[in-house]
Amino acid sequence: MIKVWTDGAEAGLLVRHGERGSAFTYLPRAPQERAVSVTMPVRVASWDWSFGLAPFFDMNLPEGALRERLRLSFAKATGTFDEFDLLTIVGRSQVGRVRYTGEDDQLYEDVPFQSVDEILAGRRDGDLFRFLIDKFAQFSGISGVQPKVLVRDENTSINLSHDIQRLSPSFRGATHIVKFWEPNEFPQLAANEFFCLRVAQRCGLQVPPFRLAEDAQALVIDRFDLRSDGTYCGFEDFCVLNARQTDQKYSGSYETSILKRFADFATAEEFSGDVEKLFTLVVLNCALRNGDAHLKNFGIVYDKVQEQARLAPVYDVVTTTVYMAKDSMALTLNGTTRWPDAKALQRVGETRTQSTPSRIKALFEQIAEALSDTTKELRKYMTEHAEFKDVGERMLQEWEKGRDLSLKAGNPTLVAVPDLKH
Ligand SMILES: Nc1ncnc2c1ncn2[C@@H]1O[C@H](COP(=O)(O)OP(=O)(O)OP(=O)(O)O)[C@@H](O)[C@H]1O
Ligand SMILES: [Mg+2]
Repeated sequence: MIKVWTDGAEAGLLVRHGERGSAFTYLPRAPQERAVSVTMPVRVASWDWSFGLAPFFDMNLPEGALRERLRLSFAKATGTFDEFDLLTIVGRSQVGRVRYTGEDDQLYEDVPFQSVDEILAGRRDGDLFRFLIDKFAQFSGISGVQPKVLVRDENTSINLSHDIQRLSPSFRGATHIVKFWEPNEFPQLAANEFFCLRVAQRCGLQVPPFRLAEDAQALVIDRFDLRSDGTYCGFEDFCVLNARQTDQKYSGSYETSILKRFADFATAEEFSGDVEKLFTLVVLNCALRNGDAHLKNFGIVYDKVQEQARLAPVYDVVTTTVYMAKDSMALTLNGTTRWPDAKALQRVGETRTQSTPSRIKALFEQIAEALSDTTKELRKYMTEHAEFKDVGERMLQEWEKGRDLSLKAGNPTLVAVPDLKH
């Protein structure tokens, strides 16, 4: 049995149920603010799922190398190893505001310290990832296929709008995400993501602070769900908002499962700005040729679960066609996963956002400019890091293809944008 906590308070109990399923019951008289998810309000009846965990409980379960590592370490003790076991192991340290413990346990996070500067300086050469995964795997309640861990930086300061404030000494949660890459499969993935995030930033999208290690072995990203007082805000990905488990992250369309779904949960006052940002991100993914923009790579954040939500900052944007030349989109647009042209994207923008046609054209121009500016930065980095040259060159070729098809066609003003190669 697992005890579920929201915002540090007990919310209910999660148990195995039926042959392969689970059931979650709120504590009697739990207030609505204790709801675990915007999709699961407090109610007397239990929330049952006939196969595995309900999408919200499934949301942060590690995938890929991290999951395999946890399975190897813990499967012996339990005999078997399923989602329920995995949640028990990583439950205390999770992305977002919900935590999981044993039925009789109290809640404490206690993530070990790790200097982020040391990771960035590439000082622990050789097996940095092995070292970090040994130390942090069981504190890493975070999804995703790429190898990564959650760490607590020794020197974290929270950047308020005007002030720098240090977290209180009693704070024990994770502050950063450290992402690595598999050299044989995805060479230079950290640098690839770094430059894609730079483009997103230049498009005016909100991106949490992110840094590339000097040896490009790791990308370190600040947690955007950590508040200045050391508590965490709510976060839910679009798998949850579409009532899907992680293994269905590639099913759905950008029109319905992303843009329309966002409207169901978004804050009314901020909707037009946020949906425009969400649309910009969809177009940007086409221009960058990111074939992995699936349901888990978009999210919402909120302070109070009963109130409406904002679009989450941008994360996990990569030029995937560098590694898989034939990669296409992760979700459909106009019923196909083929890369769309600018006309098709423009139509989607006009129907799914509240922006005018000329405003949408301006968004395309902004993306083209951001690509062009980041190209210069990427070229400079390539001259200083020979090992990135091959991947870097291919990224630029892909961006040019993406720009020509998805930003330019039917949008003649963009012809004037300088050639990205120079
Ligand atoms: N800065 C952040 N702060 C808080 N949570 C984050 C942040 N960045 C990512 N996340 C969460 O962590 C998850 C995994 O991160 P990310 O998508 O970058 O990993 P990935 O392994 O590249 O994913 P994929 O399997 O899609 O390739 C995201 O789906 C999101 O839930
Ligand atoms: Mg991801």
